[in-house]
Amino acid sequence: MAPDLSGSEAAANTHSLLLNHNIFIKWDDKYNLGIPILDEQHRGIVTMINSLHFGIRYNYIENTFAPIIQMMSDYTQVHFEIEEAFLEMLDFSHAKKHRALHRELMDKLTHAGKMSLYNKDPHHFLDFLKGWWISHICSEDLHFRDYLLGHFNG
Ligand SMILES: [Fe+2]
Ligand SMILES: [Fe+2]
Repeated sequence: MAPDLSGSEAAANTHSLLLNHNIFIKWDDKYNLGIPILDEQHRGIVTMINSLHFGIRYNYIENTFAPIIQMMSDYTQVHFEIEEAFLEMLDFSHAKKHRALHRELMDKLTHAGKMSLYNKDPHHFLDFLKGWWISHICSEDLHFRDYLLGHFNG
């Protein structure tokens, strides 16, 4: 259920809460790969995770959880395909391994989404996404940053 905006005091409190809401994952330039479209998509994924967190925090999640899971799944698929196309086009030596990691993550994302929906437990999905974001975008994707930048600058 959404926050009750009726009554001026309640509205003022809600207003203040929303304005002071802490963003769950703040984007930091250190996460940039330096490849604009991939960085843009990574930021898009972070935006979706933050939207889910906001929804949980303020009880907006009841009607939006299923669409968020679907949106996250579709967008991740698009991102992975574009990232893999880059890696293969540029002959990255670990492209196959990275693709396999993506497949594994998609399976885990699908499973986490289904379980969270079934158990009505959005926190489970949020925890999965945060862990995924930290380990994949902040670590595994960085492995090909120098390679790709060398390719573009070389
Ligand atoms: Fe990525
Ligand atoms: Fe990746």
